[in-house]
Amino acid sequence: MTNPLLEVDSVMSGYGDVNILWGVSFCISRGETVCLVGSNGAGKTTLLRTISGLLKPTQGRITFQGRDITHATPRDILAAGIAHVPEGRRLFGPMSVADNLLMGAYLRDDQHEIKRDLDHMYSLFPILANRRDQAAGTLSGGEQQMCAIARGMMGRPVLLMIDELSLGLAPQVVETLGEVVRRITQEGLSVLLVEQDVMTAFELASKGVVLDTGRISVMGSTDELAKNPAVREAYMGLSV
Ligand SMILES: Nc1ncnc2c1ncn2[C@@H]1O[C@H](COP(=O)(O)OP(=O)(O)OP(=O)(O)O)[C@@H](O)[C@H]1O
Ligand SMILES: [Mg+2]
Repeated sequence: MTNPLLEVDSVMSGYGDVNILWGVSFCISRGETVCLVGSNGAGKTTLLRTISGLLKPTQGRITFQGRDITHATPRDILAAGIAHVPEGRRLFGPMSVADNLLMGAYLRDDQHEIKRDLDHMYSLFPILANRRDQAAGTLSGGEQQMCAIARGMMGRPVLLMIDELSLGLAPQVVETLGEVVRRITQEGLSVLLVEQDVMTAFELASKGVVLDTGRISVMGSTDELAKNPAVREAYMGLSV
């Protein structure tokens, strides 16, 4: 059996004295799309921020490509291949779309390849090509999400973590973003997707992790989870 790409082992994490994650363990294989679902305040964003080094685990261990990154800096974690598309997109509003995308490549110095990747982003998201000189803060919500994902990919990550892919976006835009997530996973990238819309999450991911007040309550293939009565009732609004 091959080693997992990312291994989160018994992680405790939180803010100062307030602990939020209580012994979270799961893994992601290379090329796999995993969704992380759970109610508001369950700790999904906290988990992503802990993996990307913005928060330090107080206990447990995080391993990426066999390397212990538990205490690595956010910069080292990005350099190791984990990109984080944050909740709320956090673009550099006054800067152009093109400059935002280039910011995603700030740790790289392979100018020729950066140019190629930029063109690749414009082919994945043609709307961004049309708006490359527009200030990112003036993009629509859907366009901003595309820009945030493309910026994350400009770092050439091995694992892309997206916090709230579809929040506040029209179904057609969510459909487009879903297509892009499928395409990038076909290109070999692994994705950790935080998603409020559990139906969308289960369509995109092969494995699901359900977080409930800082603990994993259920985990398994999304096909299994979609049949799980507790998951259907609590997170999909479906009768059992
Ligand atoms: N900076 C902070 N300081 C203290 N507590 C925080 C901070 N940020 C988040 N929390 C708390 O951590 C808990 C988990 O929050 P988190 O943002 O991880 O949840 P979430 O699952 O991402 O929720 P949502 O679906 O609403 O985005 C919440 O109780 C929240 O109030
Ligand atoms: Mg959140």
